[in-house]
Amino acid sequence: MNNYFKIDEWLVVEEGFNPEMNREAESVFSLGNGYMGQRANFEEKYSGDSLRGSYVAGVYYPDKTRVGWWKNGYPEYFAKVLNAPNWIGVDLSVDGQSVDLANAGIISFRRILNLKEGYLERSFIITVSKNKTLEISSRRFLSMAEPDLGIIRYSVKSVDFAGTIDFTGYIDGDVKNEDTNYGKKFWKEVSREVSSCSGVFTARTLKTDFHVSSGMCFELTKNKKPITINPGIINREKYIANTFSVSIQPGEELVLYKYVSVLSSLNNRKESLVDDVKLRLKRALAKGFEKLFSEHVNEWKKIWSTSDIVIEGDPAAQQAIRFNIFHLNQTYTGKDERLNIGPKGFTGEKYGGSTYWDTEAFVLPFFLKTSEQQVGRNLLLYRYKHLEKSISNAEKLGFRDGAALYPMVTMNGEECHNEWEITFEEIHRNGAIAFAVYNYIRHTCDDDYMTDYGLEVLIAISRFWSQRSTYSDNLRKYVILGVTGPNEYENNVSNNWYTNFLAVWTMNYTLKNIELLQKTKPGEIKALFRKIKFDFGKEAVRWKEIIKDMYYPVDKNRNVFLQQDGFLDKELNPASSIPPAERPINQHWSWDRILRSCYIKQADVLQGMYVFEDQFDSETIKRNFDFYEPLTVHESSLSASIHSVIASRIGYIEKAYDLYLRTARLDLDDYNKEVADGLHITSMAGTWLAIVEGFGGMRINDCKLFLNPQIPAKWKSYSFHARFRDVLFEVKVSGKEVEVRNLSHKILQLELFDKKYQIKEVETMKVKMIKA
Ligand code: BGC
Repeated sequence: MNNYFKIDEWLVVEEGFNPEMNREAESVFSLGNGYMGQRANFEEKYSGDSLRGSYVAGVYYPDKTRVGWWKNGYPEYFAKVLNAPNWIGVDLSVDGQSVDLANAGIISFRRILNLKEGYLERSFIITVSKNKTLEISSRRFLSMAEPDLGIIRYSVKSVDFAGTIDFTGYIDGDVKNEDTNYGKKFWKEVSREVSSCSGVFTARTLKTDFHVSSGMCFELTKNKKPITINPGIINREKYIANTFSVSIQPGEELVLYKYVSVLSSLNNRKESLVDDVKLRLKRALAKGFEKLFSEHVNEWKKIWSTSDIVIEGDPAAQQAIRFNIFHLNQTYTGKDERLNIGPKGFTGEKYGGSTYWDTEAFVLPFFLKTSEQQVGRNLLLYRYKHLEKSISNAEKLGFRDGAALYPMVTMNGEECHNEWEITFEEIHRNGAIAFAVYNYIRHTCDDDYMTDYGLEVLIAISRFWSQRSTYSDNLRKYVILGVTGPNEYENNVSNNWYTNFLAVWTMNYTLKNIELLQKTKPGEIKALFRKIKFDFGKEAVRWKEIIKDMYYPVDKNRNVFLQQDGFLDKELNPASSIPPAERPINQHWSWDRILRSCYIKQADVLQGMYVFEDQFDSETIKRNFDFYEPLTVHESSLSASIHSVIASRIGYIEKAYDLYLRTARLDLDDYNKEVADGLHITSMAGTWLAIVEGFGGMRINDCKLFLNPQIPAKWKSYSFHARFRDVLFEVKVSGKEVEVRNLSHKILQLELFDKKYQIKEVETMKVKMIKA
């Protein structure tokens, strides 16, 4: 742990201002509400280093691909989550002298993220110049109750200053992305208006033509009493502001409240955006800060009452899991099937806010166990609606007859990343999307989903696997050549064990469902086959051959699966032999050296052991874990959580604990030295899995719930909330007993330590802990 952020069970605290840590802190203290997000940039002017970021869910820009050597099949563009008009701005000047923390004398500085109530607060005392010492504090939140609203309370107290304070509350549309490929700005102004105490700025994105209107209005108080001031107006290209000049004496306090509404054409008609924003602001103003804040806090209260994880005896682990749960809930609320979860959510530009396989492999399992069925269903429908485009993606690469290759990176179903190895070669994502259908159904028993949507996706993906597998006369087996597995530190390898296994699993599962549904829903299946021109008799023959004769690389001596052909030719030295100064290797070694090394960026064979756990016995899982874990550098955020779940599964509980801390505190302690770019939101779901599936041993199979809890030595107890179908329950595990509370009005059935139980509505059951 690096202890930069102070440990507290409900807060993240930064004491003292360290400009060199500002980008990191801006990521860690980000706010969001599923609809929009905001990095923890300062409201007032700041000339130091900062990554400015205001984001609106679903609003993106297709930035033309930039590569050294264009090859056929490259995606045309790399989608960018857009840095949207900056709505947080409140500039401050003291007798005409502008406040800028990069130049001010800072006497104290504290920034906190309140996880329980969902707000960001900064308090600092500065001396702008002689006899100009001010105590400033700002609190802001992005309303969970009314997601288009962002509210700021900006307070200035004079310590020794008598004179004039000027506030300039503004919206600035002249923003750009740091990661733009050609230095272009992506927004065009549509309209702007500003009057006394309010204004609306509307911009549209180039190419995608999303319209976003951001409106602001203000209230001002002096020594807690409202004051009315005729504000100044600034109205220039891409910028609107109201300025307030107020006199202040030592001991007095001025507070500016800034109410902002941001609406986009994703949810509102373009023509009415400005009026809609005005109406929203009028209502916000009528409610006022305190009411809006308490409604927001109330939403968080509801979230925590059904999702909190309590860990007794380990404040660092406690803070970390709440930090993870907080950010997951800030990023995605599951209400809108057009939205998804970018690897960095709304906390930075990296990964463009696009959808990756992370959603199906990590985030879906989290939402399946924590949310109502509709949330998981929406995540699946998102992919279903991209099926046609995925078929086109495959066609561009030479596949045919309705084979689908889902994109590795997407905003709208099209592939949109500019790295060949990652976009095309990581075809394993197709398997994750197929597995998601199975995962959803085993959790929800929503069998209709298979007939209505799931099977169509599965057939298209199976068609892809069938065409992507080729026959090797040499091996007398089917092989899958030229791929990148989840471990991106190996490119263009053949027979990645995980990919081959997934391909076969998909075809098998698809066949099984076709055979079942032909009996139970013959009419629907016939109609589907007609729609997608599927000749079952013909296509299934090849699938069955591939299933029977797929090649899987193995090391017969160690009796482990091999990550890919040729893996054993590498020098196998443990990751612990890499000098600490050379970690992470992706920031110190050449790409060539990384590719030649045996080091594994993230779970690969072990990802397969995790996904298909029920197909392998504990000894097999153990042998593979013992072989691969020492070679894994966990330089993808998605790695440690999976290793942690597996370590729990095979009884390596203290190893599981170390890996848990690594995944849970990845961002707080910046293990991979990249938090400045944004937080690892999708991996946060993995952190949750490390507790609930790992230590808690929770599984759902065939619509049945299983628990096999263990507890790390350091913890006195831990408890988590989870859902099984529509039953919410809480599990508390101590060294002595396991307590399961049914929090719903339905009976909860489960198997705990291999024994069946029924817990009546709102009742609690206690069972003695069984040590593994
Ligand atoms: C990982 C990928 C992941 C991506 C986005 C990469 O570092 O290797 O598996 O999809 O990050 O999280």
